[in-house]
Amino acid sequence: MELPGAALGWLAMDKTIRFLLNGAPVEISGLPPETTLLNWLRYARGLTGTKEGCAEGDCGACTVGLREIGADGRLETRPVNACIQLLPMLHGREVVTVEHLAAEDGQLHPVQAALAESHGSQCGFCTPGFVMSLWAAYRTEPKPERGRINDLLAGNLCRCTGYGPIIEAAEDSYSRPRATWDDIDAEMAAGRLSALGTDEPLAYEAAGQRFWAPVTLDGFADLVASHSEATIISGATDVGLWVTKHAFAPDAIIYTGRVRELAEIREEGGHLWIGAGATYRDAHPQIAAHYPEMGELLRRLGAEQVRAAGTIGGNIANGSPIGDMPPALIAAGATLTLRKRADRREMALEDFFLDYGKQDLAPGEFVEGVRLPVPGDGARLLCYKLSKRFDQDITAVLGCFDVAVNDGKVAAARLCFGGMAGVPKRAAATEAALIGQPWTEATVRAAMTAMEDDFTPLTDMRASAGYRIRAAQNLLLKYFLERTEPQTATRLVGAHSANPRA
Ligand SMILES: Cc1cc2nc3c(=O)[nH]c(=O)nc-3n(C[C@H](O)[C@H](O)[C@H](O)COP(=O)(O)OP(=O)(O)OC[C@H]3O[C@@H](n4cnc5c(N)ncnc54)[C@H](O)[C@@H]3O)c2cc1C
Ligand code: FES
Ligand code: FES
Repeated sequence: MELPGAALGWLAMDKTIRFLLNGAPVEISGLPPETTLLNWLRYARGLTGTKEGCAEGDCGACTVGLREIGADGRLETRPVNACIQLLPMLHGREVVTVEHLAAEDGQLHPVQAALAESHGSQCGFCTPGFVMSLWAAYRTEPKPERGRINDLLAGNLCRCTGYGPIIEAAEDSYSRPRATWDDIDAEMAAGRLSALGTDEPLAYEAAGQRFWAPVTLDGFADLVASHSEATIISGATDVGLWVTKHAFAPDAIIYTGRVRELAEIREEGGHLWIGAGATYRDAHPQIAAHYPEMGELLRRLGAEQVRAAGTIGGNIANGSPIGDMPPALIAAGATLTLRKRADRREMALEDFFLDYGKQDLAPGEFVEGVRLPVPGDGARLLCYKLSKRFDQDITAVLGCFDVAVNDGKVAAARLCFGGMAGVPKRAAATEAALIGQPWTEATVRAAMTAMEDDFTPLTDMRASAGYRIRAAQNLLLKYFLERTEPQTATRLVGAHSANPRA
């Protein structure tokens, strides 16, 4: 079996998966790389507090805490869905499960005590997941407001109690005495993680399958180029579902998650560079600072656990016609950087999507990052996501619009839709019907008619073709109203912070 170390100049590499489980080091070999953390916890370790509800990242019953030392050297704690984390992704990290929260003498963690006493648990199946989501926030954030608590819990579904007592418990946990044992444990975590000594690349092999986790960008690029048959994974919030729902067991996987350069987010030359490995959670603040409505779209993308693992690069690379980031990034004029070994090519993001399931990506090439113009007129870009459920639901129709108006006339227009074609697609005929015309309702209505030349949407379980085209047209009218009559009530109170232009 060829191992890439010599070819890549890897002087040393790990061949065993090593991480911490509730403070104690574990070493894993011999298990297939697509083994999920959830299955391993429950079947190999007997830690059955972590539950399986859906095995697709939706219900949050499997939520665990993940700790690691970040690029700034500080300890990071985030909640993830164990059902779609693959074991080798944990190398060099610490997994914290619900069994680790109470003190040795049995005293409950404030989050647990508050949930129990406010009757936030009925059948209890969802409860450990709620506890872990709240614990991860408790460890990293000051007492959250109601809206933030709703966001924190959007990825945890409870079919029994209703959310009232759970939300009360979330608030109440902050007014209880702190769990000193938990604070001490967190203080010691960074030292434990350093002591793991997992700075080298991981080259894991079991059952004839390989999992590589390089630690430098050049090493990653060489590996992808020499093993173009391998599946790249980042957060595995898509690929994890291929594993749990379609028994996907690839011969080779190359993981982006340990390449710090790939996760960089930085401003340079009038652009915001977002490395392909940057998670939604990490990219959100900077994107929202420049493009508030793209930030709002991100707030609704998946839920806390999905955003803590999933990447913008993965959302682009998967080529989905209903991914949320491509339409927003395209409307903002983003460009994409692809790389093969040391060669890079840059293209307008819309040009990457060739056809349904077909992207302009050569064998051995990968997505390195996306470049978003800043400052731009971020307030002019508005995004409208229509989905059956407000939080954590996949898009039926997404419209992202940026129309520039000079002296009462449309000077430029970038309108991009998701869910309307086999790829994220700009509405070329609609844009043409706007540009050069007076910025009036009559112009917009003419453009709405032109939109029928742009799209022939499909009927599927999310929406009918008729709904999609009508909704897309009306979203443009809504955009016009929000731009020109900012005081008009266009949004549900509570669902959104009202008209963003008001
Ligand atoms: C519960 C749940 C809710 C979700 N909700 C939403 C939602 O609201 N909106 C939405 O848009 N999506 C949603 N998703 C889908 C998913 O979270 C996103 O598509 C995510 O961005 C994928 O990123 P990832 O890092 O997890 O990709 P992965 O699963 O690791 O990879 C996805 C694909 O991209 C490829 N890939 C990854 N990185 C690279 C790279 N650098 N270069 C080349 N190829 C690469 C992989 O080979 C794979 O084909 C949801 C998923 C779940 C589980
Ligand atoms: S089991 Fe439902 S999110 Fe993991
Ligand atoms: S308490 Fe039963 S599902 Fe939440």
